Amino acid sequence: MPAIEPAAPPPDCPACPRLAAFREENRAKWPDWHNAPVPSFGTAGARLLIVGLAPGMHGANRTGRPFTGDWAGDLLYATLLKFGFAHGVYDERPDDGLTLVGARITNAVRCLPPQNKPETAEIATCRPYLASEIAALDDGAAIVALGRIAHDSLCRTLAVKLKAAPFGHGAEHELGRIRLFDSYHCSRYNTNTGVLTTEMFESVFARVREHVDGD
Ligand code: URA
Repeated sequence: MPAIEPAAPPPDCPACPRLAAFREENRAKWPDWHNAPVPSFGTAGARLLIVGLAPGMHGANRTGRPFTGDWAGDLLYATLLKFGFAHGVYDERPDDGLTLVGARITNAVRCLPPQNKPETAEIATCRPYLASEIAALDDGAAIVALGRIAHDSLCRTLAVKLKAAPFGHGAEHELGRIRLFDSYHCSRYNTNTGVLTTEMFESVFARVREHVDGD
């Protein structure tokens, strides 16, 4: 168990005015939805931390669990189940009983951004929460960055120059006590356009599995 539980933003976090205003709009339109910063899923200090971009409108922002209820989650959770990082059945609901095994999922930005596009300042404002997640990791832990924005925010959090650790699908970077694995984001756009195939995504998690098992 980690000594500290990572910090999480409060439900009415005011730190990014644009995101807070968007949250209020969505609360008025869909009062039954989560519509708040989405907490990380899984035990803090797990051997694997997966970092997405930000909650999806109809996925995590609706259900309150990262990647739950949208397209990106279908591929992510199927892959985690296949490689032993999850147990149970993924049924697109936070109460589906799915558990993560030695893994945790978080987002670089905890609130829903309009058009799924957080601004640079918003990514920076949310970074202390990412730093808190990293601080809870043991030496030798793996992080999977889903997409360039997560990768860049992780590098900035770890004070690593972006040129020293360029983003690329399948790239691995030894960053001090952490091994960073990069993947293209498992978004509908990337999978529909063939930028990311199931095989490409699985090959990243196959490497992560080897690393976690002590390659
Ligand atoms: N859902 C999330 O929680 N994060 C993403 O990056 C995409 C969908």
